[in-house]
Amino acid sequence: MFVMNLLAPVLLLLALSGCSSEVVNSFIQTCPKFFANPEGIVSPPTIFAGYNYKQICQIRASVYEYATLYDTANRIPIYSAYKFESLSNCERQTDWYIEPQLDNASARREMALETNKTLLQNQAVNKDYANRKTFGLDIGHLAPIFRGLACSDATFTLTNAAPQNSIFKKGKWKATEIYVAVLLKQKCSMYDSYVVTGVVPGSVWLNNRVNVPNYVWIGYCCLANNRQTKLSGGFIGRNADLPVSPVNLKELEKYLSQFYMKPFYVFGGRCYLPGE
Ligand SMILES: *[C@@H]1O[C@H](CO)[C@@H](O)[C@H](O)[C@H]1NC(C)=O
Ligand SMILES: *[C@@H]1O[C@H](CO)[C@@H](O)[C@H](O)[C@H]1NC(C)=O
Repeated sequence: MFVMNLLAPVLLLLALSGCSSEVVNSFIQTCPKFFANPEGIVSPPTIFAGYNYKQICQIRASVYEYATLYDTANRIPIYSAYKFESLSNCERQTDWYIEPQLDNASARREMALETNKTLLQNQAVNKDYANRKTFGLDIGHLAPIFRGLACSDATFTLTNAAPQNSIFKKGKWKATEIYVAVLLKQKCSMYDSYVVTGVVPGSVWLNNRVNVPNYVWIGYCCLANNRQTKLSGGFIGRNADLPVSPVNLKELEKYLSQFYMKPFYVFGGRCYLPGE
């Protein structure tokens, strides 16, 4: 008995350190800090079951920055989740990163530039987006560029991106991201704010490989120090130059559950405001 008690924590530590990688078994375990914790409970969005859904703790230069649920069948994310800091503006001139572990389980855990510019089975590569302008599309971030003044390099990975209508991306969607950022800055700078940005797949494909989403959505959750909801809500819009609708969390979840034809929760079924 005595030996067992001593060994148990050691085994646990070994297990935890041995599986620290970017494509993870459980992003709640490896990078919980990117998910809202209303009432003290770490509450990620719904994690679909199935081999094509990969949980990614996005890491660059040894720092975890946000989390993504990625769909290797559609080659776009379902959502990216992050703790709100600020928004910043910058364009990337060079290629976007890919996630080596999606196509090679023994690859390094960090996002990387493509070494061999071939099409990869389990993810979009830069070449998939080469003809995007012809179709009026652009590479749209999910987790936005949010690191102060410096270019937030870690958001420039194709696992955090989907084809987005160019006019929508630069216009109504950008305005929506800025609206949420300003709201959280004004109303919640003293508290902790969490944001999830997602896309809902459609029936059109770029390069016959990358799904062009039908909808783009965002949900936010601001928690007071006692972990009660201070502010929450979201927006959802078509991936087209059309107005975006403001929604409360329950309404957002109703839309997403309809689109996915299964229950979907943005903050684990928490962070609602009284009356929702
Ligand atoms: C997978 O990654 C490992 C480690 O970087 C590398 O040695 C190996 O060549 C890679 N395999 C393929 C098929 O690229
Ligand atoms: C790299 O590209 C070559 C041909 O261009 C291909 O034969 C090889 O399988 C590729 N390797 C990987 C790891 O994709």
